[in-house]
Amino acid sequence: MHVLHVVGARPNFMKAAPVLSALARRGVRQTLVHTGQHYDANMSDVFFEHLDMPEPDINLDVGSGSHAAQTAQIMMRLEPVLLREKPDWVFVYGDVNSTVAAALVCAKLLVRVAHVEAGLRSGDRTMPEEINRLLTDQVADLLLTPSPDGDANLMREGIPQERICRVGNVMIDSLVRLLPAAEERWEAQRSRVGLDRFALVTLHRPSNVDDPHVLGDGIEALADIGDSVPVVFPVHPRTRERLRALGLRESTARLRLIEPLGYVDFLALQAHAVLVITDSGGIQEETTYLGIPCLTLRENTERPITVSMGTNVLIGRDFVRLRTEVRRIMDGQWKCGQRPPLWDGRAAERIAARLLNG
Ligand code: UD1
Repeated sequence: MHVLHVVGARPNFMKAAPVLSALARRGVRQTLVHTGQHYDANMSDVFFEHLDMPEPDINLDVGSGSHAAQTAQIMMRLEPVLLREKPDWVFVYGDVNSTVAAALVCAKLLVRVAHVEAGLRSGDRTMPEEINRLLTDQVADLLLTPSPDGDANLMREGIPQERICRVGNVMIDSLVRLLPAAEERWEAQRSRVGLDRFALVTLHRPSNVDDPHVLGDGIEALADIGDSVPVVFPVHPRTRERLRALGLRESTARLRLIEPLGYVDFLALQAHAVLVITDSGGIQEETTYLGIPCLTLRENTERPITVSMGTNVLIGRDFVRLRTEVRRIMDGQWKCGQRPPLWDGRAAERIAARLLNG
């Protein structure tokens, strides 16, 4: 069997790494294609290094662009690769533009597609990722879900049950494997930020950073929070550009702006944070696994199990509520949460078993 994996953006890498290694252990022939959607060393190379991933066999070098341009470039450059490589299966991950682009090419070439992290829905079609999820799941042949809500969403959309397989959360496989390495790097990270107690922040969604007023209000709220607990903020390239336009370049005592971190270093900070404020998808899940309070600056989430079972609370853009919830966490009043079933570090093993044994 020949499996070709398509990855492209930062949140794909920690999902693909365990699957690559589970299939390698079983002697499966594999080809790794990087679309080049993310290309900065600290958005891509460092993840390959931290996750011990093999170098990509093929890089499509698409780079940045509008959604249409980026998706189209990936499709045009991937098609000849699939015609040449003739894989039995193509694995796509998550919900980024690289995911949907690859799935569409496969569907037209009648190449079987497996979607890892299938079935997640925010119900919010203004999010590009929601469109990517809906379309990818409609054309995928094997839908590998992380949680029961994923199965229910797919059944509601008419996906035949035999295509759906609940395997658990493959991103947590990487976390479980690399948490000891993160602990080893904690001292270095602690001296780098010079703090023992801190809130960790990530923000990159267009809805939070593209409008200067929204971003300005958010930064003001974070600086206020910095009065009670210093805020460490690794800044995504999109956000960095927007902050520059706002005139905010430098860290302040209350707001420590740093470059994006590699997987293990970010995990070390996450595991030791007092609380996390984010608009990321994956971080809602990682904090639930780690039992760290998470305040999500979004109106909805495609990962509702992190709210119903985990440590996550949706704040939307209510910065008054954000300040109140931070105070509650600082006072020790926060739900403990539980780890959802099958978030156990063995999801990739279940994926490999399903692929090879049916
Ligand atoms: C993409 C995903 C998003 C995911 C995020 C994680 C889509 C639709 N969005 O958003 O779901 O949460 O990745 O980071 O696929 N840039 C660089 N260097 C890079 C990559 C990007 O400077 O290596 C800058 C460019 O200015 C680019 C902008 O960041 O235009 C946005 O990059 P893009 O890949 O389009 O989307 P993300 O916001 O990263």
